[in-house]
Amino acid sequence: MQIVTVSGFKGGTGKTTLATLLSVAATLEGCKTAGLDLDNNTRNYGSILTRRRAAGLASPDHVAMVEFEDEAAAPVRHPRWLDSMVRMARQEGYELLVIDTGSGTTEDRYRAHVIADVVLTPLNESPSDLHGLFAAPGTPQAAKVNYRELVESARFERQSAGLPAQRWHVCRNRVSHLPTRLGKIVERRVDQLVTEVGLEAVWCVRDRVVHRSIALDGRTVLDAPLGAPLTMSELAGRSEARSLLGMLARASVREPMKLAA
Ligand SMILES: Nc1ncnc2c1ncn2[C@@H]1O[C@H](COP(=O)(O)OP(=O)(O)OP(=O)(O)O)[C@@H](O)[C@H]1O
Ligand SMILES: [Mg+2]
Repeated sequence: MQIVTVSGFKGGTGKTTLATLLSVAATLEGCKTAGLDLDNNTRNYGSILTRRRAAGLASPDHVAMVEFEDEAAAPVRHPRWLDSMVRMARQEGYELLVIDTGSGTTEDRYRAHVIADVVLTPLNESPSDLHGLFAAPGTPQAAKVNYRELVESARFERQSAGLPAQRWHVCRNRVSHLPTRLGKIVERRVDQLVTEVGLEAVWCVRDRVVHRSIALDGRTVLDAPLGAPLTMSELAGRSEARSLLGMLARASVREPMKLAA
């Protein structure tokens, strides 16, 4: 089973959109897929998957976290609950687990990076997304919590635990249709980062109404169109969504992960 954790430094960059497109694309290709929503503030991913299922659309299985009305009375979760969940998903025969995360710095979010075979980080055509992700600590642009350091530290932990190397994919999301000076600057900077921080691949998803409308009812560009035939933009959006599957195909054959009890 491969684990893809969709995460990044900033909010609103497209994590949930990409988690949905990737997991739906994999499901439609016949891959037994589960989705886990770690964003307790919005629960957008879980809600999208639930609505897809209700509408009879092919959907990854949604792993819901048990909720308690009175949080204070809820039993304390085992710190490695995520590892146990992964083990169960493997036993159930899942081939792919997609984890959508929020933007905070929770212990669960960090653990989701340690266990990921692939980290997928969307960023928009905005320099502030780059600063938050990649500015060197100590520079004026550097964020208090540097996401690059978080990934490096998770990678170090994986290495210490004898787990296989992790792949880090960046997706330039919401790319504008007309070339802009800013877009070129961001593209060039991301290309530099490929060697600087060891990014394995850079994907590109354009700003499209059809991607934005996922939150409406969970329907993606990959689903059968309602009524009218697909527009050119929708056809292109389909191929973008399918191309995200390439990050799974790149996986090398790996030893099963050794997870803590
Ligand atoms: N490729 C795209 N084309 C058009 N709109 C997009 C695209 N990607 C994301 N959006 C829109 O951008 C907004 C933020 O996207 P999304 O909710 O996926 O981001 P997020 O990183 O999950 O946000 P959060 O940090 O709040 O969880 C949403 O309105 C979404 O519909
Ligand atoms: Mg989200």
